[in-house]
Amino acid sequence: MTSHAKAPAKVNLQLTVGPVREDGYHPLVTVFQALALWEHVVAAPRADGRITLTVDAAPGAPVAIDAVPTDERNLAWRAAALLAEEYGIADGVDLAITKGVPVAGGMAGGSADAAAALVACADAWDLGATRADLARLGARLGADVPFSLHGHTAMGLGRGDELTPVMTRGEFHWVLATQAEGLSTPAVFAEYDRQVAAGDLEPSDMRARDAIMSALLAGDAESLGAALANDLEAPALALAPRLGAVLAAAEEAEALGVMVSGSGPTVAALAHSRRHALAIAAHLDAARVADAVVTASAPASGTVLVG
Ligand code: C5P
Repeated sequence: MTSHAKAPAKVNLQLTVGPVREDGYHPLVTVFQALALWEHVVAAPRADGRITLTVDAAPGAPVAIDAVPTDERNLAWRAAALLAEEYGIADGVDLAITKGVPVAGGMAGGSADAAAALVACADAWDLGATRADLARLGARLGADVPFSLHGHTAMGLGRGDELTPVMTRGEFHWVLATQAEGLSTPAVFAEYDRQVAAGDLEPSDMRARDAIMSALLAGDAESLGAALANDLEAPALALAPRLGAVLAAAEEAEALGVMVSGSGPTVAALAHSRRHALAIAAHLDAARVADAVVTASAPASGTVLVG
């Protein structure tokens, strides 16, 4: 049976980073919000045990797919292989990915591919896996995979993969300004370590911010905008100084808040309405500070089967 799943991108409303652990990961206190910006994966079982993969950009989506690997380096490919191994599946699968999320952007597009591949393959192979089973496997593929499965708004502890749902009210409107040239997540974390060691960056308290939690509960975009916080912003700006102009342009357009998304280089700006989001996007386009600008509402669902 052919199965089709879609998985959301994310922004981190809070991304607080602690000192690097022995396993090379950093402990996080983060608040994820799922964006209505989707990766689609269609899984068609095949009898010969092989895994094949194709990648396309969604129609109209400003997504450069040239750099996306189509072999075992691809996280969706690894998701299918891990699932087959865990469940003793001899079948293979043809995976067709349609990307709506920018590549290497700090919006977890690759993690969304893995989440969608897990859900599509589990259905296509009729494994009877629960969401909890898939989340456990997802955490082995990457720290952001469990949240893409989960969706909505959630606090993430540990590597960001220990999730607790967060209560929110209403809809939020985001503008995402993307760059053609990606930033490597490990490089941004390494720059964070360097800045802390040099005394240029003060480690923050490893606590959820009350201002973010209460703004979400009240559905208060203005307060949320003021409370956005990303410890990886300074390191991302150090590695990609051109992002300073994107932040400035979003502020000129009176965004309620603006920050580097995750490890960057995407910049996320919060608007008070869909209309305001479109106005900020138009301003960013005119300022020519980003390679592409998209808008997205949030919170979106987690990974779901389509059709
Ligand atoms: O888990 P994922 O493959 O998404 O992480 C990519 C890299 O980002 C890790 O190898 C690590 O260098 C860095 N990372 C980290 N701390 C986290 C998440 C990611 O240092 N909590």
